[in-house]
Amino acid sequence: MTRVGETELLPGGKPLKRVVFSADEIRARVEELGDEVSRAYDSSEGVLVIGLLKGSFIFMADLVRNIRLPVSVDFLVASSYGAEKTSSGNVRLLYDPEASLRDRDVLLVEDIVDSGHTLNELIPQLMARRPRSLEVCALLHKRVARLDREPRWVGFDAPEEFLVGYGLDFAEDFRHLPFIGSI
Ligand code: IMP
Ligand code: MG
Repeated sequence: MTRVGETELLPGGKPLKRVVFSADEIRARVEELGDEVSRAYDSSEGVLVIGLLKGSFIFMADLVRNIRLPVSVDFLVASSYGAEKTSSGNVRLLYDPEASLRDRDVLLVEDIVDSGHTLNELIPQLMARRPRSLEVCALLHKRVARLDREPRWVGFDAPEEFLVGYGLDFAEDFRHLPFIGSI
């Protein structure tokens, strides 16, 4: 990163307010999450890990490498549409997992829980496919949402700031930063 006076600049020149979670902190926490997930499931059946794109792609890649169980991987793309950028509560599946959820232990991986609309809308839709179990592992949780069901695993409680990096974007940039920063 370049630096102008005291301010670090992200690629492209946008100022970084601060590093919120360093790459080392993230790595250590993702290892712990992988251990916890590995202990929670039946080791013969394994788990179907479904990443919510795009934000979860880096977290998901690191998480599954720390799970010592049979793992199948799939993704889903959800889009919230309606009023403006604040997710209005209308969440539509744009890409649907090919894997059948029926009678599987399903772990949904999310980058960050903010308003909670995404999870509140998606969980009933996925439950309708009759998985044996459905749990959520979220890397970050801003703890402002009124969730119908809390994620079973959370990496970090996040400050109410706009965060980028490690999968999180601002206008589609900064997902590739190895740390999580606020802008
Ligand atoms: P929710 O439905 O409001 O919980 O929205 C969650 C989604 O909003 C996340 O999956 C992110 O894509 C996005 N989001 C929420 N907060 C942030 C942030 O601080 N930085 C980047 N994306 C965010
Ligand atoms: Mg997202």
